[in-house]
Amino acid sequence: MFAKPKKIGKLEIKNRFVRSATYEGLATEDGEVTDKLVDFYKTLSKGGCGLIITSYAFIQQNGRAGDKQIAIYKDDFIPGLQRLANIVHENGEGCKVALQLVHSGRQSFIVKENIAPSAVMEKFSNKMPREMSVSEIEETIENFAQGLRRAKEAGFDGAQLHGAHGYLISEFLSPYTNKRIDQYGGNTENRIRFVEQIYKRSRELVGNDFPILIKMNCDDFLEGGIDLEESKKITNLLSNIGFDAIEISSCMWESVKRKKSEIGWKPTFIPESRMSIGTTNEPAYHLPYAKEIKKGIDIPLILVGGINSIDLVKEILNKGYADFISFSRPLIREPNLPNRWVKGIGSSTVECEYCNNCLMTLAKEGLHCSKKEKS
Ligand SMILES: Cc1cc2nc3c(=O)[nH]c(=O)nc-3n(C[C@H](O)[C@H](O)[C@H](O)COP(=O)(O)O)c2cc1C
Repeated sequence: MFAKPKKIGKLEIKNRFVRSATYEGLATEDGEVTDKLVDFYKTLSKGGCGLIITSYAFIQQNGRAGDKQIAIYKDDFIPGLQRLANIVHENGEGCKVALQLVHSGRQSFIVKENIAPSAVMEKFSNKMPREMSVSEIEETIENFAQGLRRAKEAGFDGAQLHGAHGYLISEFLSPYTNKRIDQYGGNTENRIRFVEQIYKRSRELVGNDFPILIKMNCDDFLEGGIDLEESKKITNLLSNIGFDAIEISSCMWESVKRKKSEIGWKPTFIPESRMSIGTTNEPAYHLPYAKEIKKGIDIPLILVGGINSIDLVKEILNKGYADFISFSRPLIREPNLPNRWVKGIGSSTVECEYCNNCLMTLAKEGLHCSKKEKS
């Protein structure tokens, strides 16, 4: 099953292995693609994934999340991004590549003034964001859509909106961060309006055949935030709006300060990337959510988070709990993992130890697995 092609929208993906978006910290200070980044994608594309989702690219200057993050806020970035799309197409034996787009909202340490749906204190950084005006919301919607247009022009096969992990889209979706009393806040239909308008405006610019995916939280792990009941509603609505696939993840930055949930969540530095999978923590930690969410959507579901063996991949796909399996940290350690499993070479488990050292060293050294280099 894992080697069987499946479509996302009209785009055929050659197998069920997806590289989940992973920030590399390898762009220039201005957000331009570098030779190092191109090399990184060359290696990744040779590893056998059916679909690679790039790291998050910021769509406007005040939406930047980190240093050396790729940018897509003006047409000048198109030629550099084209190099990324091309290198995957040239080396990936049919591998497809989608660009992830983000506005970091209230979760950025590096912008002077954070904007958000509402002025709700960000408890990880202790920064108070400013509530966005309706005209700022409209401008941001347009900037997301122009970002998608640029992604298509750069040769990407699709795009994914980053609607997870507490960034701006996630902040609109969540009742924890969205306290607005206008058409963008309140009930679920109002809270999805921001992303719905991004979707509709993007469609006008990229046409019907360009897949638009979204990554979103199935649980914020915050009191008053998105939980399973709410994520079932949201995913159902997004599927009806026309999104081509949904990837489910969890947490905002400040979820790290909250207590453990009953499904076994253990706080880590970046909570969506839990540590010690397979030892103290459970593998495939979003699977209980996928089983429920899948029932309410008729588009492909992509599952990410702690998926650490081919046996687990087979079980999830064979039982129809998800359509694609997505990996971040295992591919940092072993970019060739999908090929290895397709060919039945070596261990049935991932080499990645989920130590999160890649996250800790990222800002200074760029994305790599230091454990691998020592072994
Ligand atoms: C170094 C690092 C960078 C990440 N960057 C992104 C990102 O740019 N966009 C995103 O949606 N998720 C990002 N994530 C989260 C991963 O895509 C993934 O959801 C999470 O790590 C769980 O998957 P895993 O257990 O296979 O690592 C990042 C994770 C890591 C470890």
